[in-house]
Amino acid sequence: MKILVTGGLGYIGSHTVVELIKNGYETVIVDNLYNSNEHVLERIEKITGVKPEFNKVDILDRNGLEEVFKRHSFDGVIHFAGYKAVGESVAIPLTYYENNVAGSLNLYELIKKYNVKSLIFSSSATVYGDSFASPMKEEYGLGVTTNPYGTTKLMNEMIITDFAKTNRNISAVILRYFNPIGAHESGLLGEVPNGIPNNLVPYIARVANGTLDYLNVYGDDYDTVDGTGVRDYIHVVDLARAHVLALKYANEHNGCEVINVGSGTGYSVLEVLHAYEKACGHKIAYHVTDRRPGDIATSFADTKKAEKLLGFKVERDIADMCRDSYNFTVKNPDGIK
Ligand code: NAD
Ligand code: WQD
Repeated sequence: MKILVTGGLGYIGSHTVVELIKNGYETVIVDNLYNSNEHVLERIEKITGVKPEFNKVDILDRNGLEEVFKRHSFDGVIHFAGYKAVGESVAIPLTYYENNVAGSLNLYELIKKYNVKSLIFSSSATVYGDSFASPMKEEYGLGVTTNPYGTTKLMNEMIITDFAKTNRNISAVILRYFNPIGAHESGLLGEVPNGIPNNLVPYIARVANGTLDYLNVYGDDYDTVDGTGVRDYIHVVDLARAHVLALKYANEHNGCEVINVGSGTGYSVLEVLHAYEKACGHKIAYHVTDRRPGDIATSFADTKKAEKLLGFKVERDIADMCRDSYNFTVKNPDGIK
């Protein structure tokens, strides 16, 4: 089976391409290299022995994207391409709507035109906003988002749901990721944030390797186990596996399903920090500062639907996530070059 992976050289996309190849799929990648580079392709080949076809195409370039559809007959599309920085989306919202919504519309048009059966979309737990209590259940529906990035995910969910309603041949699975962290166990693939990281684990990784001095812990007065924010961290390889299962599900069904992908367990900021200390073998300095605007106390997934429909369960725990993150950080001090 042949699968188009948009954003396939990015963090989650590259790990998913590896899992797809391991499971016998042929993959074709489209990426504009906005947040990745071609060396990722060599890393994928090193791990799998297969170099997937890569097309440097922007999904906003409708004609360029159509050329790829003309040359192939795809059984499915996994759509990762997009911008993902919450703070940046507040500063440049129109750029986010253009890339994440208009770009996606180009892709959905082509999926329709070329009769592609399956679509897997990268959504986010951010669509629950601050409207619901954890564990977050899919049946809650959509909450009130707190930033334009989250709204682009919400809009895509609505577009895909409507699209699947009137196009009975399409089978869509919207995956709501919780907090993906970690790296490939080989140390060849991982997350390379641009500049100072916004997210917890990439930041801790830079304190652990001495690039940054200490972690700012955003608040210790939440109603949680130790007062710091609680999140549902999932190893990126487990998340990648969920895509392979979602694709299999989509191929066997019609319609549209929304499915959480998390571990179902929440860890506080300090619990993650201590797990990372074990992984790197030394203390990690931190200062407690004010709460970060827009943060909620606790977010973790109800994972029953993923287990029931996809047969998905995580196989890696927080110690594995921290070990693989640190291994990648140590082996790639300057990113993937
Ligand atoms: P990433 O930035 O590492 O990967 C995205 C890839 O898409 C990059 O390689 C980038 O170059 C490419 N891209 C961006 N705009 C493009 C365009 N217009 N045309 C072609 N390629 C384009 O991000 P990631 O962490 O791998 O996230 C993948 C997807 O999952 C995104 O849609 C993101 O919003 C979503 N998501 C991520 C997280 C997370 O915490 N990482 C959580 C929930 C959802
Ligand atoms: C986790 C916890 C922080 C950094 C974000 C996006 C979400 C999704 C995943 C894409 C919180 C605390 C963090 C730091 C800290 N991305 N923290 N010091 O906010 O749950 O989710 O990434 O879809 O949309 O919003 O993840 O890693 O930023 O924060 O104390 O330097 O760590 O307050 O409690 P978040 P995060």
